[in-house]
Amino acid sequence: MDFSLSEEQQALRQAVRDFARAEVAPLAADLDREPRFPWETLRKMGALGLLGVTTPEEYGGAGLDVVTYVVLLEEIAAADASHATIMSVTNGLPQSLLLTHGTEEQRRRYLPRLASGEWIGAFCLSEPHAGSDAVALRTRAERVDGGYLLTGTKAWVTSGGEAQLYVVMAKTDPAAGARGVSAFLVEKGADGMTFGRAEEKLGQHAAVTRSVTFERCFVPESARIGGEGQGFVMAMSALDGGRIGIAAQSVGIARAALETARSYANERQAFGRAIHEFQGVGFKLADMATRIDAARLLTLRAAWLKDRGYRVTREAAMAKLFASEAASAVTHDAVQVLGGYGYTKDFPVERYFRDARVTEIYEGTSEIQRMVIHRQLYRELER
Ligand code: CAA
Repeated sequence: MDFSLSEEQQALRQAVRDFARAEVAPLAADLDREPRFPWETLRKMGALGLLGVTTPEEYGGAGLDVVTYVVLLEEIAAADASHATIMSVTNGLPQSLLLTHGTEEQRRRYLPRLASGEWIGAFCLSEPHAGSDAVALRTRAERVDGGYLLTGTKAWVTSGGEAQLYVVMAKTDPAAGARGVSAFLVEKGADGMTFGRAEEKLGQHAAVTRSVTFERCFVPESARIGGEGQGFVMAMSALDGGRIGIAAQSVGIARAALETARSYANERQAFGRAIHEFQGVGFKLADMATRIDAARLLTLRAAWLKDRGYRVTREAAMAKLFASEAASAVTHDAVQVLGGYGYTKDFPVERYFRDARVTEIYEGTSEIQRMVIHRQLYRELER
């Protein structure tokens, strides 16, 4: 898809591809076996501008556009999905919320730390009983002198326990539904904040996921981001951007699987020839490549529209839906092309297959994306 990228974007992509191949990919199998949060490589990514890609330079970011962001995120995901998840969340949710709704003081305090990779940011919306139905969250923010007391438990927090900054959605007015949710910035170490154990997941082991519990945790008024009652709409519009990141990540994982399958099918001989020469394998590779390109185009479209200031609820949901399902299908087929070897840890495709699965779940399941697209279709009719 080079036709759509400037020379500068192509050069940046090459530089990040080289970095990812040299520094990130060699760690991926070890991080999968012995999970740990990859601080060393994250710090290097921060130095390269990858942890604050669209954050303006005046706040320590790289000041690039969303199209460049998805191109670079794909490169990291092709090397290791866990790094890409951490990158996507810290860029796409806390930083974008600070940029769109933060006060100047909040931006100056947090953005330079997040963009440099000194700090990682996390997003706390889901709860043990409220995932897809996010409005049903129960965490309370009770007004007290000078601020609020947060009480409740957040689930599935990417980088939970490792991140230093948490954007927490809590109800300031439980009777007001979506309009009763407000957003708060909470720093790790706040009194009354504790972390659950690291979840034992199918894949993406290094993108540590924990619950976060708040027990009468005091946050000052100055820690509220946006107005009271604006938190849900803010979270939803941040997720529009976040979903473009997950789409780019899905493309990266799928591309890595295709590259492995293509090489293997070129080398592996059966019945006197390379197996890709058999239509059963060749057509599979063709379908994998087509799915990846279609997913990338949907992702670039959403990014391109976001760069131009359009609301991208529909386009981001389509990109995330299609790309995540493509990643699952492509990694499934890659295992099939490699046969028995694909099922072992001698090759990375079984890891890609496991890592891809959650892209259909986090930042809104495929079912939620379909619901969002369906609603947008009818909203267009009403206009
Ligand atoms: N942009 C702006 N505003 C939006 C919006 C968007 N994309 N989506 C909804 N809103 C607004 C609506 O206009 C509405 O505002 P009004 O009160 O002014 O009418 C308000 O938000 C409530 O929206 P709905 O009426 O549509 O609410 P709902 O309850 O019917 O459905 C939903 C909302 C789309 C299903 C939403 O709950 C949803 O997206 N659920 C999935 C949540 C999700 O993606 N969670 C992932 C968490 S992050 C994560 O995975 C962990 C991690 O670490 C990465």
